[in-house]
Amino acid sequence: MKKLFVLSAIALAAGAAQSQTVNVICSVQAEWCNMISTVYARTTGAKVNVSLKGSGEALAQIIAEKENPKTDIWFGGTGDPHLAAAEQGLTLEYKSPSLPQLHAWAQQQAQQSNFRTVGIYSGPLGFGYNPELLAKKKLQVPKTWADLLKPEYKGEIQVANPASSGTAYTMVATLVQLMGEDKAFEYMKGLHKNISQYTRSGTGPIKAVARSETSVSISFVHDGPGEKAQGFPVETITPTDGTGAEIGSMSIIKGSRNLEAAKKFYEWALTPGAQEMAAAAKQFQLPSNKSAKNHPSIPDFKKIKFINYDYAKYGASSERRRLISKWEKEVNSLPR
Ligand code: F6P
Repeated sequence: MKKLFVLSAIALAAGAAQSQTVNVICSVQAEWCNMISTVYARTTGAKVNVSLKGSGEALAQIIAEKENPKTDIWFGGTGDPHLAAAEQGLTLEYKSPSLPQLHAWAQQQAQQSNFRTVGIYSGPLGFGYNPELLAKKKLQVPKTWADLLKPEYKGEIQVANPASSGTAYTMVATLVQLMGEDKAFEYMKGLHKNISQYTRSGTGPIKAVARSETSVSISFVHDGPGEKAQGFPVETITPTDGTGAEIGSMSIIKGSRNLEAAKKFYEWALTPGAQEMAAAAKQFQLPSNKSAKNHPSIPDFKKIKFINYDYAKYGASSERRRLISKWEKEVNSLPR
């Protein structure tokens, strides 16, 4: 009788786990999204529905679903739209017991959002380049932001559109902090002449470089080694005059219909084992859990000249909206 009770309790628990569903917007690359959703589903019995969206597009969807949220967790993507979502009350305050296990920059991301988001990885902004294409066109490897304005790079550079891409917004915010706003916009107008295409996704440009479709990209440098591992000719460099970095983040959506499942997924995503899946999926951001193993392909932050990026200021909704619409009006509308 007792045995029967225990067995049915186990069956009930398994049934409950199986019926748990978590709806995730995933703003990292598909391989990583697929790996975490498959492993999580297999090990917990939960059903994981994943929708892939760039950082800016994810924020737009979460705003659109505000009255009737269909998403439980927003995993990854640059931190600025997560901070904007936090400020707009679109994400839930949640203080993870794992916070002390995270690097200071990841905890700071949580604190400055009143615990409505948390850092899950970080990565520096820089340039991707195709050494074969550059050699063929007799072009130098660009080493500074100023180098990208040289006329010989006309039509050779790709970057994403900051309205849809967190990578590109990180570039806009980095330049504004590095040069001051007026000079940064003059710079971006000059850069515009050399841009062949503004892509929707932040990883589009480095993929185009890897596939010899364009010589140079403005990209997160952690997106280079994964392309190289597939045999493509691609290298990365960070500008010697200074650059910014993202704090890739994760948030629980306010009004989540599967809150318990969302919190479980969130806790799992902060564990070293889950974070090491990034490198297993050939994504080389720096994990936020101090105990996660750092793969040798992860960029060496100590060798990079960083600006003192003001995440709170450039993550604020009004500043983000203002800079993006100014970029649309003053830069993107210009002829090339
Ligand atoms: O997944 C790769 C990555 O570079 C992440 O590190 C980053 O958070 C994300 O892409 C940004 O994507 P997007 O620029 O399309 O918003």
